[in-house]
Formats: sequence, C-alpha cells, structure tokens
Amino acid sequence: MPESRRSVLVARRLPQPALDRIASHCEMTLYDGPGAMPRHALLDGIRGKAGAVTLLTDKVDDEFLDAAGSGLVIVANYAVGFDNIDVPACTARSVMASNTPEVLTETTADTAWALMMAAARRVPEGDRFLRARTPWIWGPMMMLGQDVHHKTMGIVGFGRIGHALARRARGFGMRVVYFDVYRPEPELEAELGVEYRDLDDLLAEADFVSLHVNLTEVTRHLINADRLRRMKPTAVIVNTSRGPVIDEAALADALREGVIFGAGLDVFEKEPEVHPALLELENAVVIPHLGSATVETRIAMGLLAADNLIAALRGERPPTLLNPEVFDRPR
Ligand code: DGY
Repeated sequence: MPESRRSVLVARRLPQPALDRIASHCEMTLYDGPGAMPRHALLDGIRGKAGAVTLLTDKVDDEFLDAAGSGLVIVANYAVGFDNIDVPACTARSVMASNTPEVLTETTADTAWALMMAAARRVPEGDRFLRARTPWIWGPMMMLGQDVHHKTMGIVGFGRIGHALARRARGFGMRVVYFDVYRPEPELEAELGVEYRDLDDLLAEADFVSLHVNLTEVTRHLINADRLRRMKPTAVIVNTSRGPVIDEAALADALREGVIFGAGLDVFEKEPEVHPALLELENAVVIPHLGSATVETRIAMGLLAADNLIAALRGERPPTLLNPEVFDRPR
C-alpha cells in the first residue's frame, strides 16, 4: 500500500479543512463523539494504525502504544501542550510525537488577556448582576475593580505565549517581569522590555500573574497556598496553561479570604470538573478551556497536526516534532 494511504485514527472531529487534508492522504477512521473517545474505544481504534491524531484528553502511554502495535509511526497531538503523551515511551518505541506550537500563540495570549481584564474589572460578575434583575443605580462605590494599565505584569513561564503576553502588556503601559528556568538572550529581554525575577519576588511584585508553564512534576502545584500568600491582596492570577499548576483548593481559599483579588481560569486541576468552591466565588472568572478556541486557530492547529501526520507517513520530518531523535536515528 502506498505510504500516503496508510490507516490512521483521528480521535475527535477536527475542523473540516484538517479532516479533508488527512482524508486525501490516508485511510482515516474518525471518532465522531460525543465527547472524548472512551478509553476502550481508543485502545481498540489505534490497533494496527500507522498514525493517530490525539487530543489533550487522550492519554498516550505504554498501554496505548502496546495496543497500537509495532506499525505506529506517529502520534500527532492536536495541542501545543503534550502532558497527555509519554514522549519518552514513544521515543523508546521509535514512535514520533508532535504538537501544534506557534499557530495558537497569539490566540492563547488573547485569552489570558481577556481573563485578566474580566477578573480585574469584574465583567462576568456585572453581567450576572444584571441578568439577575438586581435593582441598581450608578454609584461611586459600585463594583470597583483594579486598574490594569500601568500596573506590573508577572509572567511565569516565558515561552512564545509569555512573549506574546508581554507585548500586549507593553501596549497597556505596564512593567513586565517574568520568571522562567531558561533565561532568554539579553537582546530579547531588551526588545520585549522585560526584567527577570525569581518566582517568589515576581509573585510579591506583580499586580497580575499569568501562568504559561508546561505541566511537569516540577510545575504541579507550583502555585500553592504559600505562594498565593506572597501575592498582593489586589492581585489577579490567570491560568491558561494546565490546571494542576495551581492547587485549586488553596486558590479557592485565597479568593474567599481576600488573600488575592481575583482569578481568571481557563484550565482546571481535574478537568472537566471545576472545584465546586470556585463556582461559588464571584471573584473567580472561569471558562471551559477556550485558550485556542477561535475558528482560525482551531483550523490552523488541525492543518498543522495533519501536516505532522502526513509528513511522518511519507518518511519526511514532521514540522513540529517533539522527539527528533526518532527521525534522526538510522533506519
Ligand atoms: C493546548 O494546545 O495545549 C491547549 O491547551 C488547547 O489548545
């Protein structure tokens, strides 16, 4: 069978241009929902496939790789985050793994910005207030929020999305401090007008803290009760990275007790569950993992996942490969 018509599993309906691209090169089995592919169906569906497009809800681990068998060439994740994929396990079996960086950078930074503004200026709270038909009249002390412009933005995890957020913050006349374990070139710091801080100093100094780290064993509960207490009582924390980076129970306590002013959350520790205490708090703005959810960006992610899949099946280097050693290894 020609390389290009090998059979692949697509674990959820993607935007049509991506499905069309995959179907024009491969025999495609599509799981069409509802919701995520049940585990047993995923394990069944991957059997004998040469490739898969997976989502952040699909765990790619030894069990998945065992079920696939030795013909699996690539797992193309439809997400920039890849904490759902055991990349070393893929590498050990010479399976390529890829993600979808770059194409969602600006959109995710927009989402972080929207959550920050919404929490600082109490937008969802005001909306709920009116929808509840609450009697009101304009008043000098009504529903006061926090200014965003000319404040200090603290960015934790200074990769592509962090850079995009820094650019937005500069447009609002903000000072920008960042923390990351990797320091960028001084030229980039100067271009973006940002200053490095260690994490605890950043938390104490920033009016707005936005999280952009990968989820790893090191970053799990990076923001815990102790770190929340270091923040200003007027501060807002935003998370568009992965839920477990924040200890959600500690965050709910901090929001309830006024340790910080507010939070804007796109992701949750036990997604799709949201900690029930957060749902009771007016100062928690919560949205259902919409970071990259625009028409344009979801199409771009789908096309990139398709390109990764198709390239690998043709024996070419996928454009955004996570484990290049698999491709570079002599075959
Ligand atoms: C990602 O890509 O990792 C997001 O969480 C979904 O777009």
